[in-house]
Amino acid sequence: MAVDLLLGLQWGDEGKGKIVDVLTTNYDIIARFQGGPNAGHTLIFDGAKHVLHTIPSGIFHKTALNVVGNGVVIDPVIFKKELENLDKHNIDYISRLLISRKAHLILPTHRLLDAASETAKGKAKIGSTLKGIGPTYMDKTGRNGIRVGDLELDNWEEKFQHLTKKHLKMLSHFDIQLDYDLVELQAEFSEGIKKLRQLQFIDSEAYLNDAIKENKTILAEGAQGSLLDVDFGTYPFVTSSTTTAAGACTGLGVAPNKIGEVFGIFKAYTTRVGSGPFPTELFDKDGATMAKVGHEFGATTGRARRCGWLDLVALKYAVDVNGVTQLMMMKGDVLSGFDTLKVCTSYNYKGTEITHFPYNIEPENVSVNYSEFKGWDEDLTKMTSANQLPQSLLDYVAFIEKETGVPVKIVSVGPDRKQTIVR
Ligand code: IMP
Repeated sequence: MAVDLLLGLQWGDEGKGKIVDVLTTNYDIIARFQGGPNAGHTLIFDGAKHVLHTIPSGIFHKTALNVVGNGVVIDPVIFKKELENLDKHNIDYISRLLISRKAHLILPTHRLLDAASETAKGKAKIGSTLKGIGPTYMDKTGRNGIRVGDLELDNWEEKFQHLTKKHLKMLSHFDIQLDYDLVELQAEFSEGIKKLRQLQFIDSEAYLNDAIKENKTILAEGAQGSLLDVDFGTYPFVTSSTTTAAGACTGLGVAPNKIGEVFGIFKAYTTRVGSGPFPTELFDKDGATMAKVGHEFGATTGRARRCGWLDLVALKYAVDVNGVTQLMMMKGDVLSGFDTLKVCTSYNYKGTEITHFPYNIEPENVSVNYSEFKGWDEDLTKMTSANQLPQSLLDYVAFIEKETGVPVKIVSVGPDRKQTIVR
């Protein structure tokens, strides 16, 4: 069987966790392919809320196996906390959660380097989640990293101390005083490693390719969003991994000709957390309403998310870069009550109207042109089938489908598993 992909088309927080959870019943294996504890995937069902950072969002279904792929970076300290949360719900992760030996580890000193680097950037800071993501991927591509498989080697401790020492030397070059207790950080880290060792480490690329040959169904789960991709996002205000479809190939060891459906998740409006350009950002009461009704606060950092209208220029770009075959629109319910909705359909870029996503989208280079749509007043949150959806929402969706050339197959009308309308 082919591997289906699920990824975010905006700046993250589109609701990927919820949709993976909803789709998991269709799959034998859920495999996370990039990112790490910078992600916060929220799942709500049976009256309880669960936030996952590194663990694939299929973990709550008894039937699915969950793989943390080689493209993921793991912080054993945060991972331990995630596992302990699963313990509270009696989730059997020992037999259903498999970890790639090639996944890289986030060391306590990676987190310190992240903090030092952000502080040193001053006003130009990226707004990182400070989970050590950038420094860990730097060590990976710089060929200095430590991988899960190293835990099975005799010289693991030596490797760990060597890299820590190197990081401490790097930290001393920053003109910044960080307050930390290395002994405490390392003690916490070694508890995390102990917990991690309880899990099954696998050669995940071999495991997944065998599963493909055995006709097993696999869903690859992305984190963050396409506009945070290290190549195609709003660089340098991006994360350090490939969040787009290509990241599933490198982050799982699955060949491009094995990819099937590409599910692209987007919100009916746009949000962004952290710094960086955001052409349709709102600073008025409409933006404040989206933030309030949509509970737009980061699941990982608790930071307020910036809100704005849907940007179709950016969405079409993400559809192209990922080869999206099905769209899923989230949080349509949040837009109930707006008289008029706006959708950005083109940019004015250095004096010319354009419809493609250009090199730089900072306010000095880009202003936006909007199309307007009639809003809807109906409360969508209790709706259960497509024929209950208001006509103005269907018109909004039809416009998105026409512009992107891709069908919108799911309209999500609330955070709960059950609030999902399949079209
Ligand atoms: P980092 O990946 O923690 O270094 O953060 C880099 C940028 O990506 C910052 O602007 C973060 O706010 C943003 N970011 C990272 N992970 C997520 C996510 O899961 N959702 C939304 N934004 C994220």
